[in-house]
Amino acid sequence: MSGITITRAQMDDLDVVEGLLEREQLLLDGLREHVDHLLVARSGNRVIGCAGLEVYGDAGLLRSVAVEAEHRSSGAGSALTRAALDEAARSGIAVVYLFTKSAERFFPRFGFEIVDRADVPATVQSSVEFAHVRCAGAVVMRKILAAR
Ligand SMILES: CC(C)(COP(=O)(O)OP(=O)(O)OC[C@H]1O[C@@H](n2cnc3c(N)ncnc32)[C@H](O)[C@@H]1OP(=O)(O)O)[C@@H](O)C(=O)NCCC(=O)NCCS
Repeated sequence: MSGITITRAQMDDLDVVEGLLEREQLLLDGLREHVDHLLVARSGNRVIGCAGLEVYGDAGLLRSVAVEAEHRSSGAGSALTRAALDEAARSGIAVVYLFTKSAERFFPRFGFEIVDRADVPATVQSSVEFAHVRCAGAVVMRKILAAR
């Protein structure tokens, strides 16, 4: 992952992040409401990837994990995911959920496993993303960070 750094997103980064998510057909809704925990990967000054975390008490929702196509397979997606999980642990989150249609074979390497929609706590079900899970046919995944 040479030359790539992971930092918190700045407000100036949001347009680029939204452009990336749009190209990957990932959800934009709710992104700006949770910008405090939005991370970006930079190559030089250029934003080439992102990962967001939404906090619902001691549960978290990992969302918007994406890397520009020409920068893939060099570790940026893994670094973003690990940084978001570190952010979750620092925020007192015990369990992290994610919803995906395209990467259920990517996330198990970080300890995520597929669970039933019914296992998602009511707090996380209130997220904008959850409303899209059923109609989009997304898989629900969960990683337990700490015993509650
Ligand atoms: C998923 C994604 C973020 C991974 O980013 P990346 O920078 O390529 O990831 P890394 O370089 O850290 O890891 C590459 C490894 O992950 C694997 N991988 C990447 N995307 C994958 C996917 N969608 N499903 C399964 N494996 C995947 C690669 O084959 C490679 O495997 P290897 O280590 O055995 O060679 C990137 O492919 C992406 O932006 N995809 C489109 C958006 C998306 O689907 N996001 C998930 C939404 S929840």
